[in-house]
Amino acid sequence: MTVANAEPKTSSVLSLCTNPWPSALAPMQDVTGLPFMGVIAECGSPDFYFTEFFRVYPNSKLDPEILSSITRNPSGKPIFAQLIGESIPNLDRIARELQQFSIAGVDLNMGCPAPRVYKKNVGGGLLKDSRKIELILKSLRREVKSLLTVKMRIGFEDDRNFEDILSILNDCEVDLLSLHTRTVLGGYRTDPDHEYVARAVERLDCPVLLNGNVTSAKVAYSLKCQTGAAGVMIGRSAIRNPWIFRQIREMQLGMPVFEPRMNDLYKYVQNLFVALGKPEMDDRRIVGRIKKFLNFVGLSVCPEGKFLHQMRRSSTPAELFRICEKFMISEGLAFQKLNLEPFDSLLARPSQESVES
Ligand SMILES: Cc1cc2nc3c(=O)[nH]c(=O)nc-3n(C[C@H](O)[C@H](O)[C@H](O)COP(=O)(O)O)c2cc1C
Repeated sequence: MTVANAEPKTSSVLSLCTNPWPSALAPMQDVTGLPFMGVIAECGSPDFYFTEFFRVYPNSKLDPEILSSITRNPSGKPIFAQLIGESIPNLDRIARELQQFSIAGVDLNMGCPAPRVYKKNVGGGLLKDSRKIELILKSLRREVKSLLTVKMRIGFEDDRNFEDILSILNDCEVDLLSLHTRTVLGGYRTDPDHEYVARAVERLDCPVLLNGNVTSAKVAYSLKCQTGAAGVMIGRSAIRNPWIFRQIREMQLGMPVFEPRMNDLYKYVQNLFVALGKPEMDDRRIVGRIKKFLNFVGLSVCPEGKFLHQMRRSSTPAELFRICEKFMISEGLAFQKLNLEPFDSLLARPSQESVES
């Protein structure tokens, strides 16, 4: 990997960050809503949040549940509203509506790899058509008075449009790029190639957030230094270790870095359970919902995968918490340090980006 000499570019995005360099919670459909934001804020917020995507199509309305993460943002940190769509008048219309709320900016999704999404030429599907990207961003740039940001993968099946798209981002005066360094067809199976972040940092007038397998504060720091990225965006590892943003901040400030114990993890699961439950949900649904999160948490719990195996088979809250107690607090486990890196041998399921995929 080339060591980037370029200093991260300054911009109004970075001026929103009070730390030496920013971290962001990645947008995750069905995850990064108001309940999870609240839980993360208690563990230590990132500098920026991004909403799950608002679907944009003719006559689409702002999803009230996603909107609540903006109107009731519990973190006090800037939040960007993410849009997915390809219809220019409708993207413009929704961007206009969103600017009536307290957002730091509007983010365009150009990375979603779910086939039902990209087959409609939205999300990751946009990366096949640079001209379309240019038209969308030019129009959004006129419409968005606050910050205009883009989150994308490096290409659809390969990187053939990568450089072109970077030029378009410059021409359209995009304020921030979050770059997930896999192709759309690479899904999550391929390794991220962060060399593309160094290339984007060289070419772009705006700052770049590096995204893809940033598993710990140490990895964040090392990748930031190697690539010249302005900061990092973290998704799945923030579900597994919700203190990761606090750890990044403490590391930046030369403070002792918080070392969570297994009983902290247990309390986190309890908090998630309370936050994710809704009065109208029966126990089975709440358990189903929390299992999605525990699929990621489990990567740091038992290297042989026994926690994941047992947790996935539980069906009541009592059963689920008995399993959590067994693996997180019984027999002296409570004060064991949490493994900051995931165990290599384990796989989270599901790791797709969309409930449809
Ligand atoms: C469950 C899930 C839902 C996701 N939803 C979105 C989304 O709504 N918008 C988006 O741009 N990316 C979405 N992503 C992709 C993440 O934002 C991120 O780019 C990806 O997970 C790689 O980062 P990570 O290795 O830190 O998880 C999602 C990922 C997951 C696992």
